[in-house]
Amino acid sequence: MNTSIVILAAGQGKRMNSSRPKVLQPLAGRPLLAHVIECSKAVGASDICVVYGHGGDQVQAAFENEQVRWALQAEQKGTGHAVLQAMPGTPDDNQVLMLFGDVPLLRPETILNLLNGCGASGVGVLTVDLEDPFGYGRIIRKDGAVVKNVEERDASDEQKLITEVNTGVMCCPANLLKGWLNQLGNDNSQGEYYLTDVLGMAVRDGISVQGVKADDQVEIMGINDKRQLAEAERALQLRLVNKLMDDGVTFADPARVDIRGELHCGKDVFIDVNVIFEGDVTLGDNVRIASNNVIRDSKIGSGTVVRANCHIEGATTGAGCIIGPYARLRPEAELADDVRIGNFVEVKKSSIADGSKVNHLSYIGDSTIGSGVNVGAGTITCNYDGANKHRTIIGDNAFIGSGVELVAPVEVGKGATIGAGSTISKPAPAGQLTLERSRQTTVAGWKSPVKKKK
Ligand code: UD1
Ligand code: CA
Repeated sequence: MNTSIVILAAGQGKRMNSSRPKVLQPLAGRPLLAHVIECSKAVGASDICVVYGHGGDQVQAAFENEQVRWALQAEQKGTGHAVLQAMPGTPDDNQVLMLFGDVPLLRPETILNLLNGCGASGVGVLTVDLEDPFGYGRIIRKDGAVVKNVEERDASDEQKLITEVNTGVMCCPANLLKGWLNQLGNDNSQGEYYLTDVLGMAVRDGISVQGVKADDQVEIMGINDKRQLAEAERALQLRLVNKLMDDGVTFADPARVDIRGELHCGKDVFIDVNVIFEGDVTLGDNVRIASNNVIRDSKIGSGTVVRANCHIEGATTGAGCIIGPYARLRPEAELADDVRIGNFVEVKKSSIADGSKVNHLSYIGDSTIGSGVNVGAGTITCNYDGANKHRTIIGDNAFIGSGVELVAPVEVGKGATIGAGSTISKPAPAGQLTLERSRQTTVAGWKSPVKKKK
């Protein structure tokens, strides 16, 4: 069966109180619509069409690299009118699945349940039982069969007692759908063309409607305001963390971690509280992440410990490293195995080979540091001359004293020692001590200044 998925994303979302279109509000670091598109792809649709309208330029720009078809709904006249805009270009013999851009937690399994329940030529609606059905369309059944949907605002007091509601997810063969959408009227309390009226039309034309129930209330949650957005965020985080726990990851508190992207973990990883993962992060076996870390688009090698309060972005570490507390690894920081980066150390676009240590208060930028190197406290690479960046190269087993300035481009040879407080701007030969500082003198007869009398 070929499936076309139509995602409705033209609404403004007034209740968000935001200048950003609703479907671009972020959930786990990505727009709401991104979650729905991802789910659509997972279902294996041959054609995905997004109906856009409000904030259209912004929405299209946010998904310019996405292989989807776009249909403009210039004026928002209701969900039925929205689906109609997607019909040109939808093959007649496809099964059409309709999704909402503001229902981001839906899982592919649930959609497949509906599609399989209906077959290639059936009409179906995904429903759910809610303790508090307020605001949702109610599913009216007769002798167990779905006969129609009634919106909250159009429902009688008796109908409002019904707890089975419309999730908004429907499927229908394209040829039938096209016919019914053209017959929709807007004679209802909102003056809108309701997609849901299609259900009644199917029944009228003698086609039975499958009502397939979802068992998870969270999954069908529609996001209309910031409170629901926050609720959905926690629900999605819990889902992500549960999956990782099933894979063996230990969280100090699953409620106090945020994954905004993809987190891949090896065996026996431990993650303490208040850690934020962004983008694509990989943690090797036995990695320990202490509290208050932000880690983005990075790979942390097995057995490495990231102590508290670090900021790590676009970096790679080998095995057995110790990072932090209070360290900053910036893009293209590449650490080999057993490297130590201590407190208030910033590393950018630099490689540091096995067993080297930069433990206190340093800036290492545009550098290549060999193995077994010790960089003393307060040492910095002066990589920028005001116009261009230059490289610093430090050979294996060199010892850089404290408070050294390495003025790039500059090279320190293997096994060299640089005396503390030196400003090094010329090559320092291998295996020798290089110093650059004036001799210490004590000034005879010097007196401390005294405060002037007024
Ligand atoms: C809709 C359903 C209701 C269901 C509920 C579930 C209808 C008539 N009602 O109500 O039965 O219980 O969802 O969450 O379908 N949209 C457009 N163009 C429009 C109108 C809406 O693209 O002209 C989009 C919105 O951006 C949104 C989705 O359709 O993504 C749903 O619209 P919304 O106005 O939120 O419908 P509800 O009143 O929640
Ligand atoms: Ca809604």
